[in-house]
Amino acid sequence: MIRDADVLSMLMARQPDFSLDQPFYTDPDLYQIDLAKIWYREWLVAGAAVEMPKTGSYVTLQIGAYGVIIVRGGDGKIRAFHNSCRHRGSRICSAARGTAPKLVCPYHQWTYELDGTLLFAREMGPDFKPADFPLKSVHCEEVAGMVFICLAEEAPDFAPFRAVAEKYLAPHKLNDCKVAHQSTIVEQGNWKLVMENNRECYHCAGSHPSLCRTFPEDPNLFGGADGKGAPQLEAHIARCEDAGLPSKFTIAHDEQWRFIRIPFLGNACSYTMDGKPAVSKRVGDVPFDNAGSLLFFHYPNSWNHFLSDQNMIFRMLPISDTQTEVTTTWLVHKDAVEGQDYDLQRLTEVWENTNAEDRAVVEENQKGVNSPAYEPGPYSRVQESGVIQFVDWYARTMQRRLTGRRMMAAE
Ligand code: FES
Ligand SMILES: [Fe+2]
Repeated sequence: MIRDADVLSMLMARQPDFSLDQPFYTDPDLYQIDLAKIWYREWLVAGAAVEMPKTGSYVTLQIGAYGVIIVRGGDGKIRAFHNSCRHRGSRICSAARGTAPKLVCPYHQWTYELDGTLLFAREMGPDFKPADFPLKSVHCEEVAGMVFICLAEEAPDFAPFRAVAEKYLAPHKLNDCKVAHQSTIVEQGNWKLVMENNRECYHCAGSHPSLCRTFPEDPNLFGGADGKGAPQLEAHIARCEDAGLPSKFTIAHDEQWRFIRIPFLGNACSYTMDGKPAVSKRVGDVPFDNAGSLLFFHYPNSWNHFLSDQNMIFRMLPISDTQTEVTTTWLVHKDAVEGQDYDLQRLTEVWENTNAEDRAVVEENQKGVNSPAYEPGPYSRVQESGVIQFVDWYARTMQRRLTGRRMMAAE
């Protein structure tokens, strides 16, 4: 059985700029340590606020052992709760999404307000105080139309991220959008392999014929790990900044998240097969069609693309040591009409293809890593600086969490 101390030793002995030891991608005990030290501790992207458009709209998520309900209250505020009834623990909402005036447990009908207070519990006797049994809340923050949750007792400080995210996301007005499409796929691969694959385009030429029509596979054009790149990247950022679009490379001091606005190839405006816009109504205040893509990752579970004509949120949730769910949400202007302002197939085909291609490479990666012959291999510092950056963030975060109380208190 792999214990915390074993993980710490492996991380301290790891070779820099090499992939991780096999157990990080394959071992069920190590997966549980990932859950405890990363997934139950960090802020996670839950989705778009417009997925819960009105009072009582809810979505549910599963993060390891924890079920979570995220619901919009009568006051418009979005809150998150543990999906576990305060009576005998039944799951309250089993659907992935829905709308309900109150949260009613299906087992014995204990009935909760949308703010989590227990409103009604049948025949519990005169001494029973409903106020003692509210739903347990989960930290929940909305910033510029994106919803984040954190399962930790004490969540990391959200304020530094909020300030930057508000500025970068403001022109894309996520709250003036609607969900045009959402797809969820399950990849037979460890969550770190899914994220590693996302953080490089070394594989793009060989795997992504549709994406490569518009997305620049050259790290000098998408900024690699440090945002430094070719003159075209610098020129694009300057042009967008001049037009009021925050675009410069910005990264958290611990490198957990990053924003940068990159150009598409040639005159492309969107992730379409011909590069032309997919939606005739632009989102928010983006002043021109060829604004490229504002790239935003947030470890451990999200990468995102904000364009002139659509906002795309990618949310990853681990299912097991070797299974990961990836949900893609396409947001378009709320007044855009399907069939008139956009064609759904045209809007989604490039990333539906790309997601399927990524699933295939991740699954082959997992199968190969499962072999007793696997040993860590070197990342390309030219092509895979983003992977190195992710793995270093993971290793640093785990080491900090695994080195006991003194360091944890200093967090
Ligand atoms: S477990 Fe929820 S009402 Fe009994
Ligand atoms: Fe890919």
